[in-house]
Amino acid sequence: MHSTWRGIVAGLLALAALAAVPALQADDSACLMCHRDQAAKGFGLRAHGLGADPRGEQTAIGCTDCHGASEAHAASPRAAPDFTFHGEQAGAGDEACLSCHSDAGLGHWAFSEHAGTDTGCVACHSLHTPTDPIQETGGEFAVCTSCHQQEKHGQMKFSRHPMQEGLVKCSDCHAPHGGAAMNGLVQPTVNETCYQCHAEKRGPFLFEHEPVQDDCTHCHDPHASVNDQLLTARQPFLCQQCHIASRHPGTLYDDDRLGGRDINIIGQSCTNCHSQVHGGNQPASSTFRR
Ligand code: HEC
Ligand code: HEC
Ligand code: HEC
Ligand code: HEC
Ligand code: HEC
Ligand code: HEC
Ligand code: HEC
Ligand code: HEC
Ligand code: HEC
Ligand code: HEC
Repeated sequence: MHSTWRGIVAGLLALAALAAVPALQADDSACLMCHRDQAAKGFGLRAHGLGADPRGEQTAIGCTDCHGASEAHAASPRAAPDFTFHGEQAGAGDEACLSCHSDAGLGHWAFSEHAGTDTGCVACHSLHTPTDPIQETGGEFAVCTSCHQQEKHGQMKFSRHPMQEGLVKCSDCHAPHGGAAMNGLVQPTVNETCYQCHAEKRGPFLFEHEPVQDDCTHCHDPHASVNDQLLTARQPFLCQQCHIASRHPGTLYDDDRLGGRDINIIGQSCTNCHSQVHGGNQPASSTFRR
């Protein structure tokens, strides 16, 4: 017991000693001569630990770590700093970030669509702010859809993944820093991505429906749809894209009887009978009816 307490006290003393050492970096004092306001903008609370500390100015990570030495600029502000992170330097500035952030999560970054289109770190992350909107609850949707308008408008459709509310996040399915899979998905395949939450669709089933095992997006839009249940088309047309001929006629139902009350047309149509369209284990599941 005693040794535990001694350990804690020693730890606290060590922390206090660290805090007492002014962490201001020598080459930053040059920047702060003119940019005191920048330091005061209050991202002292953020991990980079910049800005005004209640006890005085402390800079854990220096201005020049991100903006580069910028000697020409410090001598004459008309010259640009080495890295401004905007304009022509949008992508180049990422090098500064990556000099520290080269961990596993960013391993695919260089090959991602975002890096490839100069959509740099700063397109998503804000650094000189007390908080980073994209890391706030519900903030991700707003940041991503500031560019991806289609996904934003999708939220007004009849059926949708509840993304606007933050219940399902873009990053539940897409690795924001890029991934090995198509479309930067977080899992190797579309289906593995969906199974994260819809585990009951994984099976294995005695009777499996080939398109379901192959790719959920044969029938579902992952974001939103004007049709029920995120379906890419209404029934019976959805099924008829692939099933033209069946022992009971499949094509019959899109002719002039469309206005009628045929059970293959009304309501849930094909899934009135073929309710286990994702697969099943009962004998009748061979045609996905139970
Ligand atoms: C002599 C005063 C002075 C010093 C020293 C100075 N700056 Fe500046 N800096 C300015 C002024 C003035 C501007 C605004 C220039 C403008 O708007 O075109 C500026 C702008 C900037 C910008 C924004 C550029 C942009 O295009 O968005 C950055 C980043 C910057 N400084 C970083 C630094 C860093 C890092 C240092 C230290 C190495 C530094 N500054 C030292 C005066 C200074
Ligand atoms: C962790 C990286 C990082 C550090 C450290 C950093 N900056 Fe920045 N700074 C950026 C990025 C990225 C931008 C452009 C986008 C933004 O505002 O987030 C920027 C923008 C600026 C701007 C222009 C935009 C504005 O808000 O006026 C100035 C001036 C600036 N920084 C000065 C400084 C100074 C002075 C320091 C040191 C106290 C510093 N920066 C430390 C990353 C950093
Ligand atoms: C000198 C090293 C260094 C540089 C340069 C640097 N970072 Fe960091 N960053 C850190 C450390 C250390 C942490 C805290 C530990 C962690 O989360 O990995 C951190 C944390 C973060 C975080 C999570 C916490 C927060 O407050 O948001 C983000 C996002 C981030 N950095 C983005 C960036 C971006 C974008 C750049 C370039 C503009 C950058 N960093 C430049 C060292 C650095
Ligand atoms: C397309 C948007 C986007 C881009 C571009 C982007 N990030 Fe991120 N970043 C995110 C999201 C989303 C998160 C996760 C936030 C969360 O978990 O809530 C994140 C998290 C982080 C974190 C914190 C990780 C942790 O475990 O806490 C760091 C550090 C980071 N990013 C650094 C970077 C760096 C460096 C770059 C550029 C090389 C970059 N990001 C580019 C969207 C982006
Ligand atoms: C500053 C604008 C911008 C922001 C913010 C942004 N993106 Fe992108 N995104 C792009 C551009 C540009 C492309 C490449 C061209 C295209 O496909 O539209 C792209 C491509 C993509 C792709 C296709 C990737 C591929 O491998 O095919 C996905 C998925 C994506 N973004 C998701 C996101 C997510 C998730 C976020 C938020 C975490 C986000 N984006 C934030 C601009 C942005
Ligand atoms: C439930 C999982 C999921 C969520 C949540 C999700 N996506 Fe996707 N996204 C996908 C899948 C799967 C694809 C591949 C589409 C395909 O193969 O038809 C994709 C494709 C994309 C593409 C590239 C193709 C295109 O349609 O242009 C972009 C860009 C994109 N998503 C952006 C976003 C953004 C932004 C968000 C958040 C607002 C988001 N996604 C949320 C699963 C998801
Ligand atoms: C992060 C968890 C998550 C992931 C990953 C996910 N979903 Fe969902 N899904 C949900 C939630 C939450 C709902 C809404 C449930 C509700 O409203 O009752 C939902 C609803 C649905 C619905 C029914 C929509 C409706 O209108 O009732 C379908 C279909 C669906 N998801 C398909 C998919 C497909 C296909 C994928 C893979 C591309 C996927 N989901 C990935 C969480 C997820
Ligand atoms: C052959 C077309 C097809 C494929 C492929 C498909 N689904 Fe469906 N899915 C449907 C239909 C049709 C409905 C509506 C069921 C109804 O009307 O009874 C549905 C409904 C759903 C629902 C909401 C109702 C429920 O059963 O929970 C979820 C969730 C869902 N699908 C997830 C998935 C996932 C995950 C995949 C991939 C593993 C997938 N679907 C592949 C046709 C398909
Ligand atoms: C993307 C193409 C595709 C779509 C869309 C599709 N199916 Fe299938 N379906 C198949 C394939 C491939 C098989 C397996 C082929 C076989 O065994 O003859 C199959 C098998 C079946 C079987 C079993 C056939 C048998 O002989 O055992 C039924 C029943 C069935 N599907 C119903 C549906 C229904 C209902 C829908 C709409 C909700 C639908 N399918 C949508 C491709 C599709
Ligand atoms: C009234 C109930 C019912 C409706 C509605 C229905 N089916 Fe069927 N379907 C069956 C039954 C029962 C079988 C099994 C027949 C057998 O085993 O002899 C079957 C078999 C099938 C088969 C596989 C056997 C074959 O003949 O090739 C396919 C494919 C199929 N249906 C597709 C569809 C499609 C597509 C729709 C919507 C246009 C649909 N069904 C609507 C009852 C229905």
